[in-house]
Amino acid sequence: MPLYSRDVGNGTPLVLLHAFPLSSAMWLAQREALAERFRVVTPDLRGFGGSPLGTAEPSVDVMADDVAALLDAKGIDRAVVGGLSMGGYVTLAFCRRHPDRVLGVVLADTKATPDTETARADRLRIAERLEADKTVDVLLEELLPRLVGPTTMRQRALIYGRVRGLVQSAPPSAAAWAQRAMAARPDALESLAGLHAPALVVHGAEDEITTEDDARAMVEALPNAELTLVPRSGHLPPVEQPQLFNEAVGEFVAALGRTIR
Ligand code: MLT
Repeated sequence: MPLYSRDVGNGTPLVLLHAFPLSSAMWLAQREALAERFRVVTPDLRGFGGSPLGTAEPSVDVMADDVAALLDAKGIDRAVVGGLSMGGYVTLAFCRRHPDRVLGVVLADTKATPDTETARADRLRIAERLEADKTVDVLLEELLPRLVGPTTMRQRALIYGRVRGLVQSAPPSAAAWAQRAMAARPDALESLAGLHAPALVVHGAEDEITTEDDARAMVEALPNAELTLVPRSGHLPPVEQPQLFNEAVGEFVAALGRTIR
């Protein structure tokens, strides 16, 4: 499925994959700041933003292959590939399926382990409700309040409003498809040992959706990884604390750019 993407700047390609149920709009602050130094490519994963949903069975592998096809279309051979939460699951699938194209990896507020039975059943319940309601009400009720951390809720109401707008823009059919894809994702923890590209794991200290233990498990399983904890951020550090996120990612990508030259 040809993906719509925003593509700005020059230099080392940095592909950033968005969280559920958002779109490439969540990477606004990264396009603004990081595109001064790198080529920042932010796709809308299938069904979200400007990308069509298509007819494939739900799968993070399908989403990862969409990203590989996008890189082909842009003539990008290798890139730093990063993703947040659902985008992280797709990044992990991309690393499994297209390891030669990965210069470096950014895994933000995500995890390599699969869903528990309870989590899987919950996703299928949510997918069914999205399809029955034909609205994203269930996401506004159940997911939105957990997407940003308590500091953002207290001090930065505008950010919460922006995230709410992004959730409201998600097509219910795409959100249901993505829930089913995430429910079916495999365990990626063991495959991390074979991922030799340098990795940056980022975790918002106030994240309630993924835990610091999830982040540390990936750092331990990866041969070459570092961890950045972002204070005063919940699940969405690039949106809640863009400056801290951009500093960490900017340094990581710049160091990779130096070693590949
Ligand atoms: C996300 O932020 O992408 C989702 O919360 C991921 C998930 O539901 O596991």
